[in-house]
Amino acid sequence: MSLDLSIRVESALEAQTLAISNTAKKMKADGIDVVSLSVGEPDFETPQCAKNAAIKALSENFTHYTDSNGIAELREEIAKKFRDENGIVHAKSSNIIVSGGAKQCIYNALMALCNEGDEVIILAPYWVSYPAMAILCGAKPIIVSGDFENHYKVKPEQLKAAITSKTKCVILNSPSNPTGMMYTEQEIRDFAQIIAEADCYLLSDEIYEKLTYSEVKHFSPGAIPELSEKVITVNGMSKAYAMTGWRIGYMHAPDHVFKEISKVQGQSTSHPNSIAQKASLAALQEGSSDIEQMRIAFAQRKHLTCTLLSDIPGLKFHIPDGAFYVFISFEDITDDVDFCSYLLEKHHVALVPGDAFGCPGALRISFAANEITLKKGIERLAQGLKAYGHTA
Ligand SMILES: Cc1ncc(COP(=O)(O)O)c(C=O)c1O
Repeated sequence: MSLDLSIRVESALEAQTLAISNTAKKMKADGIDVVSLSVGEPDFETPQCAKNAAIKALSENFTHYTDSNGIAELREEIAKKFRDENGIVHAKSSNIIVSGGAKQCIYNALMALCNEGDEVIILAPYWVSYPAMAILCGAKPIIVSGDFENHYKVKPEQLKAAITSKTKCVILNSPSNPTGMMYTEQEIRDFAQIIAEADCYLLSDEIYEKLTYSEVKHFSPGAIPELSEKVITVNGMSKAYAMTGWRIGYMHAPDHVFKEISKVQGQSTSHPNSIAQKASLAALQEGSSDIEQMRIAFAQRKHLTCTLLSDIPGLKFHIPDGAFYVFISFEDITDDVDFCSYLLEKHHVALVPGDAFGCPGALRISFAANEITLKKGIERLAQGLKAYGHTA
Protein backbone atom coordinates (compact mmCIF):
# COMPACT_ATOMS: atom_id res chain seq x y z
CA MET A 1 0.00 0.00 0.00
CA SER A 2 1.33 3.44 -0.84
CA LEU A 3 0.95 6.17 1.73
CA ASP A 4 1.32 8.87 -0.94
CA LEU A 5 -1.25 11.63 -0.93
CA SER A 6 -3.05 13.24 -3.83
CA ILE A 7 -0.63 14.97 -6.19
CA ARG A 8 -3.40 17.35 -7.25
CA VAL A 9 -3.97 18.48 -3.69
CA GLU A 10 -0.27 18.65 -2.88
CA SER A 11 0.39 20.84 -5.89
CA ALA A 12 -2.43 23.30 -5.15
CA LEU A 13 -1.26 26.24 -3.06
CA GLU A 14 -2.84 27.22 0.23
CA ALA A 15 -4.72 30.53 0.10
CA GLN A 16 -2.13 33.12 1.18
CA THR A 17 -4.92 35.56 2.01
CA LEU A 18 -6.30 33.16 4.63
CA ALA A 19 -2.80 32.42 5.95
CA ILE A 20 -2.13 36.14 6.50
CA SER A 21 -5.44 36.88 8.16
CA ASN A 22 -4.96 33.80 10.40
CA THR A 23 -1.50 35.05 11.49
CA ALA A 24 -2.95 38.52 12.12
CA LYS A 25 -5.78 36.96 14.20
CA LYS A 26 -3.25 34.98 16.23
CA MET A 27 -1.14 38.09 16.87
CA LYS A 28 -4.29 39.92 18.01
CA ALA A 29 -5.16 37.02 20.32
CA ASP A 30 -1.63 37.34 21.78
CA GLY A 31 -2.46 40.93 22.69
CA ILE A 32 -0.66 42.68 19.81
CA ASP A 33 -2.43 45.71 18.32
CA VAL A 34 -2.56 44.49 14.72
CA VAL A 35 -4.42 46.43 12.04
CA SER A 36 -5.76 44.04 9.45
CA LEU A 37 -6.39 45.43 5.99
CA SER A 38 -6.03 42.00 4.45
CA VAL A 39 -9.57 40.73 4.69
CA GLY A 40 -11.95 40.21 1.83
CA GLU A 41 -15.16 40.71 3.74
CA PRO A 42 -17.43 43.62 4.63
CA ASP A 43 -17.28 44.70 8.28
CA PHE A 44 -20.99 45.68 8.15
CA GLU A 45 -23.83 43.69 9.67
CA THR A 46 -26.02 41.32 7.71
CA PRO A 47 -29.31 43.11 6.81
CA GLN A 48 -32.02 42.70 9.47
CA CYS A 49 -34.49 41.26 6.93
CA ALA A 50 -32.11 38.31 6.36
CA LYS A 51 -31.64 37.73 10.09
CA ASN A 52 -35.42 37.83 10.68
CA ALA A 53 -36.01 35.31 7.90
CA ALA A 54 -33.39 33.01 9.43
CA ILE A 55 -35.02 33.22 12.86
CA LYS A 56 -38.42 32.48 11.29
CA ALA A 57 -36.96 29.51 9.38
CA LEU A 58 -35.56 28.11 12.61
CA SER A 59 -38.74 28.59 14.59
CA GLU A 60 -40.73 26.95 11.80
CA ASN A 61 -38.28 24.04 11.82
CA PHE A 62 -37.04 24.64 8.32
CA THR A 63 -34.02 22.62 9.30
CA HIS A 64 -34.00 19.58 7.02
CA TYR A 65 -32.59 18.61 3.64
CA THR A 66 -33.74 20.78 0.76
CA ASP A 67 -33.71 20.26 -3.01
CA SER A 68 -30.04 19.72 -3.85
CA ASN A 69 -30.01 22.65 -6.29
CA GLY A 70 -31.57 24.99 -3.72
CA ILE A 71 -35.14 25.83 -2.65
CA ALA A 72 -37.55 26.62 -5.49
CA GLU A 73 -38.50 30.14 -4.35
CA LEU A 74 -34.85 31.20 -4.02
CA ARG A 75 -33.98 29.81 -7.46
CA GLU A 76 -36.98 31.70 -8.90
CA GLU A 77 -35.82 34.93 -7.28
CA ILE A 78 -32.26 34.47 -8.57
CA ALA A 79 -33.46 33.72 -12.11
CA LYS A 80 -35.56 36.91 -11.96
CA LYS A 81 -32.52 38.87 -10.74
CA PHE A 82 -30.43 37.56 -13.65
CA ARG A 83 -33.16 38.48 -16.15
CA ASP A 84 -34.02 41.90 -14.74
CA GLU A 85 -30.64 43.17 -13.54
CA ASN A 86 -28.16 41.37 -15.77
CA GLY A 87 -30.06 41.10 -19.05
CA ILE A 88 -29.71 37.30 -19.11
CA VAL A 89 -33.16 37.10 -20.68
CA HIS A 90 -33.12 33.32 -21.05
CA ALA A 91 -32.34 32.75 -17.32
CA LYS A 92 -34.72 30.15 -15.84
CA SER A 93 -34.97 28.85 -12.28
CA SER A 94 -34.38 25.34 -13.64
CA ASN A 95 -30.84 26.41 -14.61
CA ILE A 96 -29.97 27.94 -11.23
CA ILE A 97 -27.88 26.15 -8.61
CA VAL A 98 -27.43 27.56 -5.11
CA SER A 99 -24.22 26.46 -3.36
CA GLY A 100 -22.12 27.08 -0.25
CA GLY A 101 -20.70 30.41 -1.48
CA ALA A 102 -19.54 31.63 -4.88
CA LYS A 103 -16.37 29.69 -4.13
CA GLN A 104 -18.22 26.40 -4.17
CA CYS A 105 -20.08 27.44 -7.33
CA ILE A 106 -16.79 28.00 -9.14
CA TYR A 107 -15.31 24.77 -7.82
CA ASN A 108 -18.41 22.76 -8.80
CA ALA A 109 -18.43 24.32 -12.25
CA LEU A 110 -14.75 23.56 -12.86
CA MET A 111 -15.29 19.99 -11.61
CA ALA A 112 -18.11 19.60 -14.11
CA LEU A 113 -16.14 21.13 -17.00
CA CYS A 114 -12.57 19.92 -16.71
CA ASN A 115 -10.78 16.77 -17.75
CA GLU A 116 -7.17 15.92 -16.92
CA GLY A 117 -4.87 18.11 -19.03
CA ASP A 118 -7.48 20.73 -19.96
CA GLU A 119 -6.43 24.34 -19.72
CA VAL A 120 -8.22 27.05 -17.76
CA ILE A 121 -7.31 30.61 -18.73
CA ILE A 122 -7.03 32.94 -15.75
CA LEU A 123 -6.54 36.68 -16.14
CA ALA A 124 -3.95 38.10 -13.73
CA PRO A 125 -3.90 39.71 -11.26
CA TYR A 126 -6.43 37.03 -10.28
CA TRP A 127 -8.44 35.97 -7.24
CA VAL A 128 -6.18 33.61 -5.25
CA SER A 129 -8.34 30.51 -5.52
CA TYR A 130 -8.73 30.22 -9.31
CA PRO A 131 -5.40 28.50 -10.10
CA ALA A 132 -5.65 26.14 -7.11
CA MET A 133 -9.21 25.18 -8.06
CA ALA A 134 -8.19 24.47 -11.66
CA ILE A 135 -5.37 22.23 -10.38
CA LEU A 136 -7.71 20.42 -7.97
CA CYS A 137 -9.99 19.69 -10.92
CA GLY A 138 -7.12 18.19 -12.93
CA ALA A 139 -6.71 21.16 -15.25
CA LYS A 140 -3.72 23.38 -15.95
CA PRO A 141 -4.03 27.08 -15.10
CA ILE A 142 -2.84 29.31 -17.94
CA ILE A 143 -2.10 32.78 -16.64
CA VAL A 144 -2.51 35.80 -18.92
CA SER A 145 -1.38 39.04 -17.28
CA GLY A 146 -2.64 42.59 -17.63
CA ASP A 147 -0.17 45.48 -17.16
CA PHE A 148 -0.33 48.27 -14.63
CA GLU A 149 -0.33 50.78 -17.51
CA ASN A 150 -3.48 49.18 -18.94
CA HIS A 151 -5.25 49.18 -15.52
CA TYR A 152 -4.28 45.51 -15.26
CA LYS A 153 -6.68 44.68 -18.08
CA VAL A 154 -5.90 41.82 -20.43
CA LYS A 155 -6.19 42.81 -24.10
CA PRO A 156 -8.35 40.77 -26.50
CA GLU A 157 -5.31 39.84 -28.60
CA GLN A 158 -3.64 38.39 -25.47
CA LEU A 159 -6.71 36.27 -24.75
CA LYS A 160 -6.89 35.09 -28.37
CA ALA A 161 -3.21 34.11 -28.33
CA ALA A 162 -3.66 32.08 -25.12
CA ILE A 163 -6.55 29.94 -26.43
CA THR A 164 -5.50 26.48 -27.63
CA SER A 165 -7.30 23.25 -28.52
CA LYS A 166 -6.95 22.32 -24.83
CA THR A 167 -8.68 25.44 -23.46
CA LYS A 168 -11.80 24.40 -21.59
CA CYS A 169 -12.70 27.63 -19.90
CA VAL A 170 -11.80 31.28 -19.40
CA ILE A 171 -12.46 32.86 -16.00
CA LEU A 172 -13.47 36.51 -16.01
CA ASN A 173 -13.82 38.52 -12.80
CA SER A 174 -15.21 42.05 -13.10
CA PRO A 175 -15.13 44.02 -10.78
CA SER A 176 -11.82 42.39 -9.99
CA ASN A 177 -10.37 41.10 -6.79
CA PRO A 178 -7.57 42.25 -6.24
CA THR A 179 -7.45 45.36 -8.47
CA GLY A 180 -11.02 46.72 -8.32
CA MET A 181 -10.78 47.21 -12.08
CA MET A 182 -13.88 46.69 -14.23
CA TYR A 183 -13.99 45.71 -17.87
CA THR A 184 -16.33 47.88 -19.95
CA GLU A 185 -19.21 46.39 -21.90
CA GLN A 186 -17.25 46.80 -25.14
CA GLU A 187 -14.19 45.06 -23.69
CA ILE A 188 -16.36 42.16 -22.54
CA ARG A 189 -18.02 42.00 -25.96
CA ASP A 190 -14.55 41.80 -27.54
CA PHE A 191 -13.69 38.84 -25.29
CA ALA A 192 -17.09 37.31 -26.06
CA GLN A 193 -16.43 37.36 -29.77
CA ILE A 194 -13.20 35.42 -29.26
CA ILE A 195 -14.91 32.90 -26.99
CA ALA A 196 -17.86 32.51 -29.39
CA GLU A 197 -15.37 31.42 -32.07
CA ALA A 198 -13.47 29.04 -29.75
CA ASP A 199 -14.47 25.68 -28.27
CA CYS A 200 -14.51 26.82 -24.67
CA TYR A 201 -16.68 28.12 -21.86
CA LEU A 202 -16.64 31.44 -20.05
CA LEU A 203 -17.07 31.50 -16.29
CA SER A 204 -18.04 35.00 -15.21
CA ASP A 205 -17.45 35.66 -11.51
CA GLU A 206 -19.64 38.67 -10.68
CA ILE A 207 -19.45 38.54 -6.89
CA TYR A 208 -18.56 42.27 -6.61
CA GLU A 209 -21.27 43.38 -9.07
CA LYS A 210 -23.11 45.58 -6.56
CA LEU A 211 -20.02 47.35 -5.23
CA THR A 212 -19.18 49.83 -7.98
CA TYR A 213 -18.15 53.47 -7.79
CA SER A 214 -17.16 54.80 -11.21
CA GLU A 215 -18.93 55.53 -14.48
CA VAL A 216 -18.12 52.00 -15.75
CA LYS A 217 -21.33 49.98 -15.68
CA HIS A 218 -21.28 46.32 -14.70
CA PHE A 219 -21.95 44.09 -17.69
CA SER A 220 -22.71 40.36 -17.69
CA PRO A 221 -21.41 38.38 -20.67
CA GLY A 222 -24.30 35.95 -20.03
CA ALA A 223 -26.50 38.63 -21.66
CA ILE A 224 -24.84 38.09 -25.05
CA PRO A 225 -27.13 35.73 -27.03
CA GLU A 226 -24.27 34.14 -29.02
CA LEU A 227 -22.76 32.92 -25.76
CA SER A 228 -25.93 31.51 -24.18
CA GLU A 229 -24.62 27.92 -24.40
CA LYS A 230 -21.18 28.85 -23.10
CA VAL A 231 -21.46 31.20 -20.14
CA ILE A 232 -21.71 30.25 -16.49
CA THR A 233 -22.61 33.29 -14.39
CA VAL A 234 -21.60 33.19 -10.71
CA ASN A 235 -22.68 35.56 -7.97
CA GLY A 236 -23.51 35.38 -4.26
CA MET A 237 -24.54 36.96 -1.00
CA SER A 238 -21.13 37.39 0.68
CA LYS A 239 -19.87 40.77 -0.48
CA ALA A 240 -22.87 42.96 -1.34
CA TYR A 241 -25.08 41.74 1.52
CA ALA A 242 -22.34 41.36 4.17
CA MET A 243 -23.27 37.67 4.44
CA THR A 244 -19.86 35.96 4.18
CA GLY A 245 -20.50 33.53 7.02
CA TRP A 246 -23.88 32.38 5.72
CA ARG A 247 -22.11 30.72 2.78
CA ILE A 248 -24.56 31.24 -0.05
CA GLY A 249 -23.53 31.65 -3.67
CA TYR A 250 -25.45 30.92 -6.84
CA MET A 251 -24.95 30.42 -10.57
CA HIS A 252 -26.75 30.12 -13.85
CA ALA A 253 -25.49 27.52 -16.32
CA PRO A 254 -26.64 26.27 -19.75
CA ASP A 255 -28.76 23.07 -19.66
CA HIS A 256 -26.05 20.52 -20.42
CA VAL A 257 -23.57 22.10 -17.98
CA PHE A 258 -26.23 22.56 -15.32
CA LYS A 259 -26.97 18.82 -15.32
CA GLU A 260 -23.34 17.97 -14.60
CA ILE A 261 -22.84 20.69 -11.98
CA SER A 262 -25.97 19.50 -10.26
CA LYS A 263 -24.47 15.99 -10.04
CA VAL A 264 -21.26 17.35 -8.48
CA GLN A 265 -23.22 19.19 -5.82
CA GLY A 266 -25.66 16.34 -5.19
CA GLN A 267 -22.82 13.87 -4.64
CA SER A 268 -20.64 16.15 -2.53
CA THR A 269 -22.39 18.62 -0.24
CA SER A 270 -26.03 17.80 -1.18
CA HIS A 271 -27.16 21.43 -0.89
CA PRO A 272 -26.38 24.63 1.03
CA ASN A 273 -27.72 25.32 4.51
CA SER A 274 -31.55 25.48 4.62
CA ILE A 275 -31.73 28.47 7.00
CA ALA A 276 -29.18 30.49 5.04
CA GLN A 277 -31.22 29.90 1.88
CA LYS A 278 -34.30 31.48 3.52
CA ALA A 279 -32.17 34.39 4.77
CA SER A 280 -30.76 34.92 1.28
CA LEU A 281 -34.23 34.94 -0.25
CA ALA A 282 -35.29 37.72 2.13
CA ALA A 283 -32.08 39.67 1.46
CA LEU A 284 -32.60 39.49 -2.31
CA GLN A 285 -36.25 40.52 -1.98
CA GLU A 286 -35.97 43.22 0.69
CA GLY A 287 -32.30 44.15 1.12
CA SER A 288 -31.74 46.69 -1.68
CA SER A 289 -31.66 49.77 0.58
CA ASP A 290 -29.27 48.03 3.02
CA ILE A 291 -26.84 47.21 0.26
CA GLU A 292 -27.01 50.71 -1.19
CA GLN A 293 -26.10 52.16 2.22
CA MET A 294 -23.11 49.84 2.42
CA ARG A 295 -22.08 50.74 -1.13
CA ILE A 296 -22.14 54.45 -0.26
CA ALA A 297 -20.00 53.81 2.83
CA PHE A 298 -17.53 51.79 0.73
CA ALA A 299 -17.35 54.63 -1.81
CA GLN A 300 -16.37 57.05 1.00
CA ARG A 301 -13.76 54.63 2.29
CA LYS A 302 -12.36 54.17 -1.19
CA HIS A 303 -11.98 57.94 -1.46
CA LEU A 304 -10.26 58.17 1.95
CA THR A 305 -7.92 55.26 1.16
CA CYS A 306 -6.88 56.66 -2.21
CA THR A 307 -6.35 60.15 -0.75
CA LEU A 308 -4.13 58.84 2.04
CA LEU A 309 -2.18 56.55 -0.29
CA SER A 310 -1.53 59.32 -2.78
CA ASP A 311 0.44 61.18 -0.06
CA ILE A 312 2.93 58.29 0.25
CA PRO A 313 5.91 58.55 -2.10
CA GLY A 314 6.96 55.52 -4.15
CA LEU A 315 3.49 54.00 -4.63
CA LYS A 316 1.54 53.65 -7.85
CA PHE A 317 -2.12 52.63 -7.99
CA HIS A 318 -5.28 53.10 -9.99
CA ILE A 319 -8.48 54.30 -8.38
CA PRO A 320 -10.69 51.18 -8.27
CA ASP A 321 -13.99 51.08 -10.18
CA GLY A 322 -15.45 48.47 -7.85
CA ALA A 323 -14.94 45.82 -5.11
CA PHE A 324 -13.19 47.00 -1.92
CA TYR A 325 -9.49 46.82 -2.69
CA VAL A 326 -6.72 49.08 -3.88
CA PHE A 327 -3.87 47.29 -5.62
CA ILE A 328 -0.59 49.09 -5.07
CA SER A 329 2.46 48.68 -7.24
CA PHE A 330 5.94 49.61 -5.92
CA GLU A 331 8.66 51.36 -7.80
CA ASP A 332 11.52 49.78 -5.87
CA ILE A 333 10.35 46.78 -3.81
CA THR A 334 10.35 43.53 -5.73
CA ASP A 335 10.01 41.04 -2.88
CA ASP A 336 6.44 41.81 -1.87
CA VAL A 337 6.08 38.60 0.18
CA ASP A 338 9.05 39.56 2.35
CA PHE A 339 7.79 43.14 2.59
CA CYS A 340 4.30 42.04 3.74
CA SER A 341 5.81 39.71 6.38
CA TYR A 342 8.00 42.61 7.53
CA LEU A 343 4.99 44.96 7.70
CA LEU A 344 3.06 42.46 9.80
CA GLU A 345 5.92 41.57 12.16
CA LYS A 346 7.47 45.00 12.67
CA HIS A 347 4.68 47.48 11.94
CA HIS A 348 1.67 45.34 12.84
CA VAL A 349 -0.33 45.94 9.69
CA ALA A 350 -1.63 43.00 7.64
CA LEU A 351 -1.75 43.41 3.85
CA VAL A 352 -1.61 40.78 1.10
CA PRO A 353 1.39 40.50 -1.26
CA GLY A 354 0.72 40.80 -4.99
CA ASP A 355 2.42 37.43 -5.45
CA ALA A 356 -0.72 35.76 -4.04
CA PHE A 357 -2.64 37.21 -7.00
CA GLY A 358 -0.03 36.31 -9.61
CA CYS A 359 1.43 39.83 -9.65
CA PRO A 360 4.67 40.19 -7.66
CA GLY A 361 5.95 43.67 -6.79
CA ALA A 362 2.57 44.82 -5.54
CA LEU A 363 0.24 44.50 -2.55
CA ARG A 364 -3.48 44.57 -1.93
CA ILE A 365 -5.06 46.77 0.68
CA SER A 366 -8.68 46.14 1.61
CA PHE A 367 -10.81 49.16 2.50
CA ALA A 368 -13.48 46.97 4.12
CA ALA A 369 -12.62 48.60 7.45
CA ASN A 370 -13.74 51.70 9.35
CA GLU A 371 -12.14 55.12 8.96
CA ILE A 372 -10.00 54.92 12.12
CA THR A 373 -8.64 51.49 11.16
CA LEU A 374 -7.91 52.63 7.62
CA LYS A 375 -6.04 55.73 8.79
CA LYS A 376 -4.03 53.74 11.33
CA GLY A 377 -3.21 50.96 8.85
CA ILE A 378 -2.12 53.31 6.07
CA GLU A 379 0.00 55.32 8.51
CA ARG A 380 1.75 52.07 9.47
CA LEU A 381 2.24 51.18 5.82
CA ALA A 382 3.87 54.59 5.24
CA GLN A 383 6.19 54.12 8.24
CA GLY A 384 7.02 50.58 7.20
CA LEU A 385 7.79 51.62 3.66
CA LYS A 386 10.15 54.34 4.86
CA ALA A 387 11.94 52.06 7.29
CA TYR A 388 12.11 49.16 4.80
CA GLY A 389 13.63 51.51 2.26
CA HIS A 390 16.37 52.40 4.79
CA THR A 391 17.20 48.78 5.50
CA ALA A 392 17.00 47.58 1.88
C1 LIG B 1 -13.42 37.20 -6.81
C2 LIG B 1 -14.05 36.36 -5.78
N1 LIG B 1 -14.84 35.33 -6.16
C3 LIG B 1 -15.43 34.53 -5.28
C4 LIG B 1 -15.25 34.72 -3.92
C5 LIG B 1 -15.93 33.76 -2.98
O1 LIG B 1 -16.98 34.32 -2.30
P1 LIG B 1 -17.96 33.44 -1.38
O2 LIG B 1 -17.80 33.98 0.01
O3 LIG B 1 -19.32 33.66 -1.94
O4 LIG B 1 -17.54 32.03 -1.49
C6 LIG B 1 -14.43 35.75 -3.46
C7 LIG B 1 -14.18 35.92 -2.02
O5 LIG B 1 -13.23 36.53 -1.59
C8 LIG B 1 -13.83 36.61 -4.41
O6 LIG B 1 -13.07 37.64 -4.03
